[in-house]
Amino acid sequence: MSAGKKVAVVTGSNKGIGFGIVRELCAKFDGDVYLTSRDQGRGEVAVEELKKLGFQPHYHQLDIDDESSVLRFKNFLKSKYGGLDVLVNNAAIAFKNAAPEPFSEQATITMRTNFFNTYRFCNIIFPILKPHARVVNVSSYAGHLLKIPGDHDVAVALRKKLSSSDLTGEELVQMIEGFVNAAQTGTHQELGWPNSAYATSKIGISALTRIQQKAFDNDSRKDIIVNSVNPGYVDTDMTSHKGTLTIEQGAAAPSWLALLPPNVKGPKGGYVWYDKQIVDWVNGPTPTTV
Ligand SMILES: NC(=O)c1ccc[n+]([C@@H]2O[C@H](COP(=O)([O-])OP(=O)(O)OC[C@H]3O[C@@H](n4cnc5c(N)ncnc54)[C@H](OP(=O)(O)O)[C@@H]3O)[C@@H](O)[C@H]2O)c1
Repeated sequence: MSAGKKVAVVTGSNKGIGFGIVRELCAKFDGDVYLTSRDQGRGEVAVEELKKLGFQPHYHQLDIDDESSVLRFKNFLKSKYGGLDVLVNNAAIAFKNAAPEPFSEQATITMRTNFFNTYRFCNIIFPILKPHARVVNVSSYAGHLLKIPGDHDVAVALRKKLSSSDLTGEELVQMIEGFVNAAQTGTHQELGWPNSAYATSKIGISALTRIQQKAFDNDSRKDIIVNSVNPGYVDTDMTSHKGTLTIEQGAAAPSWLALLPPNVKGPKGGYVWYDKQIVDWVNGPTPTTV
């Protein structure tokens, strides 16, 4: 066991923003940093790339869609480090605009990874978070509550429920299940949801972040902080390399949140913009269009 050594983990970090966050943490985090990937080969190539740049990332396989992979990783962290100090929930998927799959299928698949399995991953891993742990949920500009459009009663009620300080994780799961079910018949917009599975998944992640912080505030482990973050519009495979920010720029705010010092006042349970501005998730406005 690496007794007393701190440890940081970034999910889905063999490429893109996650890779950039690992690089940043390797440079700044006082402890071991784990690059993780669902595909071991792709992960090992990424580790070698960082080693060539003079960094020393560690590696572990992790597919958040595979519960046995998650449990193996949790047991590894527990036995080697006695817990976890930094977790960046970065892994996610997005269908391209021109994807041929019907919306119903896109909704099911997107929600599975980006919301339900991210939530399950948190529920499995959070019990081993150490005091002063930092969790970063990578959301999106599409994850702002006001991406639920309109002033009609249904949309207003949906926004109100999602932003209620009484909302529980179980209730949020039920709401997102309601989106997926409605998407099967194309009636999700009648329930107030946006016509985007990706946006809904990220709205869910930012709503979840607020619920998670509330639980941490009442946890016997002191000073655990979680925030969600919009990394900006970044040049990665997900954006077909149309994003205007570099991976390094996209990694800046997530890494900053991952490295918030002990006993800092905030942000806590917040929604943070890529330039590190703390944005009002309920009322907005958002600083720019991305
Ligand atoms: N790029 C942007 O402009 C932008 C904007 C807003 C938010 N974001 C968010 O930023 C995060 C990173 O996005 P990106 O642009 O860097 O995307 P990306 O280049 O497509 O990288 C996504 C990463 O997640 C991994 N992944 C997907 N499903 C996984 C699973 N089940 N288990 C473990 N890893 C999994 C991918 O692994 P494989 O290589 O095996 O596919 C890949 O390493 C995502 O949460 C995304 O929604 C991105």
